[in-house]
Amino acid sequence: MDKFVIKGGVALHGEIATGGAKNSALPALAAALLTAETVTLRRIPQVRDIRTMQELIESIGARVEVTNDAVRVEARTIVSPEAPYELVKTMRASSLVLGPLVARAGRARVSLPGGCAIGARPVDLHLAGLEQLGARIHQVHGYIEAEAPGGLRGATIHFDRVTVTGTEDLMMAAVLARGETVIENAAREPEVLDLAELLIRMGAKIEGAGGSTIRIQGVEKLGGAEHTIIGDRIEAGTFLVAGAITGGELTVTDCVPEHLGAPIAKMRQAGITIEQTGPGELRVRGTRALRSADMTTEEYPGFPTDLQAQYMALMTQAEGIAIVKENIFENRFMHAQELARMGANIRLDGRQAIVAGPRDLSGAQVIASDLRASASLVLAALAARGETTIDRVYHIDRGYEKIEEKLAGVGAQIRRE
Ligand code: EPZ
Repeated sequence: MDKFVIKGGVALHGEIATGGAKNSALPALAAALLTAETVTLRRIPQVRDIRTMQELIESIGARVEVTNDAVRVEARTIVSPEAPYELVKTMRASSLVLGPLVARAGRARVSLPGGCAIGARPVDLHLAGLEQLGARIHQVHGYIEAEAPGGLRGATIHFDRVTVTGTEDLMMAAVLARGETVIENAAREPEVLDLAELLIRMGAKIEGAGGSTIRIQGVEKLGGAEHTIIGDRIEAGTFLVAGAITGGELTVTDCVPEHLGAPIAKMRQAGITIEQTGPGELRVRGTRALRSADMTTEEYPGFPTDLQAQYMALMTQAEGIAIVKENIFENRFMHAQELARMGANIRLDGRQAIVAGPRDLSGAQVIASDLRASASLVLAALAARGETTIDRVYHIDRGYEKIEEKLAGVGAQIRRE
């Protein structure tokens, strides 16, 4: 199992590029199942979760061709509308093939994702929505079996709570349903809007994506399209924290500053200088006088839960007490114990973590538990005195492409073993 060895205490300087958004690429690959024609996707990050999704759609029957500038998908026929347990257990976002398969093939058999490190991760809202579109759903032997032999018909769907992949799944089901579908209380994440733009290029009729109410007029069939994935706002946010926590100066390129409104405002509140230095470019300057600032994770456009762990690492270096509240997932503080082993002063109390700082961090042996927790350990290690080894970095490889190369490129002493 790979591990990272990081020697901390080096201020990072230079330019670091953002890749394509993993959480936009995943639904885009699933969307290609909706047509027999070729869908060409650019800026697909070659990370583990993407390779898993590419494997999954190939097993379903799509031809997937990966070149260095694009991924071409051609799902001429759906051979097996299934997402087997072996794949789903490694990546719960596999449930994103549910909607496209029921819409295209009239049936789907997808393993229940099961929980993961950060929470139970149910898909009940996905299933309730598909039933409202006319699919018959039943669960047996740990699998979801969905059927709509006569096709789907439009409906008004109201989500009890905001769900990102639930919104994406149902948008992909509704584009081929007969009649109009209205999705209320839809997720507003940029990745939802990016998916809608791809679907519209394929011939779908969608209005309001990116807002809380999405209107879809079903069409007979969809065609091929070309699409470039948006920059990964979570990767960009992680790099902003890296510049701040090491007291350096980084220019993060190829990102979308307007997708980072909440994290930028919060980091400025903590005393960090962040300015837009060009289209798609943010410059962050760390400061020794980091101030604590309370933070609560919310659905977009609030502070993203996927940057909570990284922000907690930053707050260990800030003067005062920061209350970090995690509203989205029930168990997303696994990084706190590992940060404490490096010297952080963090007390957990249910959905909130109380971070007292500043605390000098010292290098230690730590273990990654999930994708974003491992990113926070890398950040803490960059700021810590001495050497840190982070075990189980396969977690970080799920969502960050060549992170050690990118960080080494701006001065970090990091190597993979
Ligand atoms: C997406 O997960 C992202 N993954 C997650 O990123 C991200 O943390 C999350 O949205 C929140 O922004 C992808 O886009 C592939 P949700 P998703 O459905 O869609 C509950 C990362 O690190 N819920 O918006 O699975 C759920 O338990 C990953 O890249 C139900 O109760 O999240 C959670 O508490 C981690 N029933 C809340 O809603 C459902 O049917 C939000 O979950 C669905 C969700």
